[in-house]
Amino acid sequence: MEKTLVLVKPDAVRKNVAGKIISRFEDEGFKVVALKKVKLSKEEAGRFYMVHKDRPFYDELCEFMSSGPIVAMVLEGENAISRVRQIMGATDPSKAEEGTLRKLYGSNIGENAVHGSDSPESAAYEIPFFFSGLELVG
Ligand code: CMP
Repeated sequence: MEKTLVLVKPDAVRKNVAGKIISRFEDEGFKVVALKKVKLSKEEAGRFYMVHKDRPFYDELCEFMSSGPIVAMVLEGENAISRVRQIMGATDPSKAEEGTLRKLYGSNIGENAVHGSDSPESAAYEIPFFFSGLELVG
């Protein structure tokens, strides 16, 4: 069993589709082991996305991710990291496959509805960023 961190981004929360996104992951067989709604400051978004700090889109990304509430969750399942990434689809919604969450709910490469950890190393940084061990309920 593997755990991964998923964020429903501010655009999808504003569209009122957080529940639909959580429901899709439940339908796909994942267990929601932690869940919360939070609003990041720009500084906190910057720390979460530290790995992208040298990218040209970093400032825009941090601005967007702190523009409204997000829903953070930890999902558990077999090969959770790669399966979640398949269900989300390509980073750019216009290139995402039909039926993927980013195709369904994303607007553009920045406002793409969902985030999921891209590797076990990322998950190991991202899960404790939002949740203490006590908040993971299997
Ligand atoms: P995410 O999976 O959350 O990880 C990093 C995010 O950076 C990514 O999704 C995109 O939303 C965002 N991103 C990647 N490339 C660009 C870009 N060219 N312009 C704006 N945002 C981007």
